[in-house]
This record gives sequence, structure tokens and C-alpha cells, in this order.
Amino acid sequence: MKMDNTLLEDVNAQINREFYAAYLYFAMATYFAEINMEGFAKLTKNHAKEELNHAKKLYDYLILRNEKVNLFQIEAPDTGWTNPTDAIQSALDHERFVTGHIHKLYKDAKEKNDFALEVFMQWYVSEQVEEEHLFQSMLDKMNYVQDCSCEIVNIDRELKIQSEYVE
Ligand code: FEO
Repeated sequence: MKMDNTLLEDVNAQINREFYAAYLYFAMATYFAEINMEGFAKLTKNHAKEELNHAKKLYDYLILRNEKVNLFQIEAPDTGWTNPTDAIQSALDHERFVTGHIHKLYKDAKEKNDFALEVFMQWYVSEQVEEEHLFQSMLDKMNYVQDCSCEIVNIDRELKIQSEYVE
């Protein structure tokens, strides 16, 4: 079944958003590396790779449906973070923004009776729950210790150990 044109445009726009997310997390990894927060740098770099995979899954899906993939220009991320908490807050804000688009795509697929796309998008709906949880729980810990830099360094050390298992 051919995909509705509006749905196709939305999936292509989501591919671009996922590439942008990868760009954002690579930029964040750079910021953390520059301030020698190795754990946060590893976590955000690993996350950038996950975002590339999110883009690739959508790309492969359009190919499978014999639909046209459009690769648009990727916007440069805003990188004016003033401290680690500020950067993680912007990661959470970004994930909430993405969740909104994923939910819209899921709803539109359902309303346009594209059951195949609806089922495919379920994976993204679940994934966004995990993504928001990851950054929300980290932000809660960081807000809890507030500006205590030695505690932020401890969180960074923990993240470094955890990220080594992911690589
Ligand atoms: Fe692909 Fe973090 O959403």
C-alpha cells in the first residue's frame, strides 16, 4: 500500500529530526569532553550513535515500503550550555520535543488507517519513554546535588564506568 503523502513527509521530517538529535548529542559530547567530564561525554556520544540508529530504522522502513527518502539539511545545534545540568536539561527538553512528534506520527498513521506504519511507530513510542527516563533521572540527581561540583564529578565517574559496558 502506498503511503499517504502527508505521512511520508512526516516520516522524512522525523528522519531529519533523528539526525539532528545525533548532531545535538555529538555537540554535547564535545562540550563535556572540553570540560573534562569524561563520563557525560561517553554517555552523550553513545546516545548520538543511538540517534543515528533511530534515523536508520526510519530510512530502512521507507525503503522497505518502496517510498522516497528525502534527506534534508541538518541544522547546527545550539551549544551555549553554561554547566553540565544545563546541558542535560536541554537533552530532556529535546527528548520531550521528539516525543511530541513521535506521538503525532503514531496518531496520524492510525487516523489514516496506515496500520503497518502505526505498528512500526510503536517501537519509537516505547523508546521515547526510555529516552525521557534516562535524562529525567539524571537531571533529578543533578538537581538534588545542585551546584556541589564534587557530587557532579562523582556522577561523572559513575557514568564513565557504566558507559564502558555499553561501548
Ligand atoms: Fe531518537 Fe532521542 O530520540
